Amino acid sequence: MMVCEYKPGLEGIPAAQSSISYVDGQKGILEYRGIRIEELAEKSTFLETAYLLIWGELPSKEELEGFEHEVRYHRRIKYRIRDMMKCFPESGHPMDALQASAAALGLFYSLRDLHNPAYIRDSVVRLIATIPTMVAAFQLMRKGNDPVRPRDDLDYSSNFLYMLDEKEPDPLMARIFDICLILQVEHTMNASTFSARVTASTLTDPYAVVASAVGTLGGPLHGGANEEVIQMLEKIGSVENVRPYIDHCLETKSKIMGFGHRVYKVKDPRAIILQGLAEQLFEKFGYDKFYDIAQEMERVVEEKLGSKGIYPNIDFYSGLVYRKMGIPTDLFTPIFAIARVAGWLAHWKEQLEENRIFRPTQVYNGLHEVTYTPIDQR
Ligand SMILES: CC(C)(COP(=O)(O)OP(=O)(O)OC[C@H]1O[C@@H](n2cnc3c(N)ncnc32)[C@H](O)[C@@H]1OP(=O)(O)O)[C@@H](O)C(=O)NCCC(=O)NCCS
Repeated sequence: MMVCEYKPGLEGIPAAQSSISYVDGQKGILEYRGIRIEELAEKSTFLETAYLLIWGELPSKEELEGFEHEVRYHRRIKYRIRDMMKCFPESGHPMDALQASAAALGLFYSLRDLHNPAYIRDSVVRLIATIPTMVAAFQLMRKGNDPVRPRDDLDYSSNFLYMLDEKEPDPLMARIFDICLILQVEHTMNASTFSARVTASTLTDPYAVVASAVGTLGGPLHGGANEEVIQMLEKIGSVENVRPYIDHCLETKSKIMGFGHRVYKVKDPRAIILQGLAEQLFEKFGYDKFYDIAQEMERVVEEKLGSKGIYPNIDFYSGLVYRKMGIPTDLFTPIFAIARVAGWLAHWKEQLEENRIFRPTQVYNGLHEVTYTPIDQR
């Protein structure tokens, strides 16, 4: 048997062949099915991009309308799911609530017909349609309120923002939110996508696939960084404190949140788009000190770490944008999940098309031939 070198975190080791997305970290390029994200952010919508990722090509007008229609009319969650969520502790993290609820959906749709395109489509529609409803429902219920019913007359992103506080969102805000979802929907073989593919490879149901990916996304080394960006901006508190804060991080070798990326050694292309969106948002709704602190941070970090290829990543600006929209900090990662579910489902479908169960090996570094010591002699 061929002996391979062990790479912690499987760094650099291909885990799948995939035609879903492509990153060039040296040039700062991200493509979904070959289309640059800049073009999708300008011209597409989240649901159209989700369709592109899952079914491999842009939908025709009829196909898109059909998909939007199905998603729109599957937004309601079963009252038993809602009742179950009511029992969750209000102090629990919304990612944990989402993971449990996504897994619970599988109890209601337990038929597993993985070779049937209709089953694949129904599962895709149901998960994309209901995840925002579950996130919004937990947000309201943990404050002691009843969840808001989805509104069929609103588009995907407007409806989610509406369900959060029962107010129709400003159209610019809803469009910016939709673009944020486009930018977060997919990013090659990251931890949660790998998790989704490993779970999918056992031929379990898509609810278990999504629940395992949600669990993986929740960690601070993955989806949780955008929450930490806001905590950092709050801690810095003023433009004058930016330079001393960064100097302190560099002296103590601690990471500045929202900067640096394993793949991108130039500015993250998603951060460039989000920076422009943040600009539009602050211009319309008023500049505040967080915007100024963020600008100063970018200047100082570039001055000190630009030569090492450390620039803002997507989490730096997504945190800033979501905060300006009035979204609670601990919903940032669930929103990331609302977007990423479409990417996970694209990988679920691709995995099923040429499935082989994941069964890597390990490098054993333990003992051999150890004798059992009776308990009274230990
Ligand atoms: C994302 C991240 C894990 C990528 O790390 P990585 O590719 O393993 O890069 P390394 O940790 O090897 O860093 C390379 C060098 O840049 C420095 N560096 C990387 N990110 C840094 C940051 N955010 N702040 C300060 N220095 C940083 C490292 O200290 C290291 O310096 P050294 O060569 O003098 O030791 C890392 O940049 C990070 O932790 N960023 C902050 C958290 C964050 O925003 N995560 C969201 C990512 S989308």
